[in-house]
Amino acid sequence: MDWKKKLKWLRKRLTWNYKYAIGKWDNMGSEADRYNAIVSLIRSCAIPEPRILDLGCGYGALMQYLKPEDYSYCLGVDLSDTAILKARKQKYPKCDFRVGDIHRFTPPGTFDIILFNEVLYYLDNRTEVAVRYAGYAQPNGYMIVSLYDLKESIVADLSQEFTFVETRVVHDNDRNVVWGINLFKLFH
Ligand SMILES: C[S@@+](CC[C@H](N)C(=O)[O-])C[C@H]1O[C@@H](n2cnc3c(N)ncnc32)[C@H](O)[C@@H]1O
Repeated sequence: MDWKKKLKWLRKRLTWNYKYAIGKWDNMGSEADRYNAIVSLIRSCAIPEPRILDLGCGYGALMQYLKPEDYSYCLGVDLSDTAILKARKQKYPKCDFRVGDIHRFTPPGTFDIILFNEVLYYLDNRTEVAVRYAGYAQPNGYMIVSLYDLKESIVADLSQEFTFVETRVVHDNDRNVVWGINLFKLFH
């Protein structure tokens, strides 16, 4: 990596660590409907005990909603070591959490469900990134992409590469926000 890229990466990592340190994302629990929509989509894939790759996992908030019988293994990856340390402390069963940059991370093995949970808009060349990770999916695996404010143009771009299945729309009327949780099938 050249020094400019390294500096950019370091700045991003420090920014996310700072956000976690000041508790900016501590309220993820208030997004229960969004997490439950992700869990419901994972179950709808009807893969017995899938292996899940949670990219940009933060402190692993999703794991508070998944039951151990919903998966055989979950690997969470995040740029923020502060978030990853917090995730590891929870000792979620059958989970590993690793510090890594989604742009460069090499998954160990293959997964049934690749999840981009509120992270895709922070990435450069997001469609290329999604295509690269699809290469680590099992045949007939799925990709789930949670997007704040629906971001239909991102969904349209991904639909050029993968088979769009459905969007579940989740509203938080108190905060006047909306998310689209999108499911794609990854045929090989
Ligand atoms: C809005 S938070 C979502 C956290 C988690 N997915 C959730 O919904 O509970 C975005 C996360 O993406 C991570 N992130 C941003 N850019 C990243 C990158 N290039 N590689 C890995 N993680 C990244 C941040 O550190 C942060 O934890």
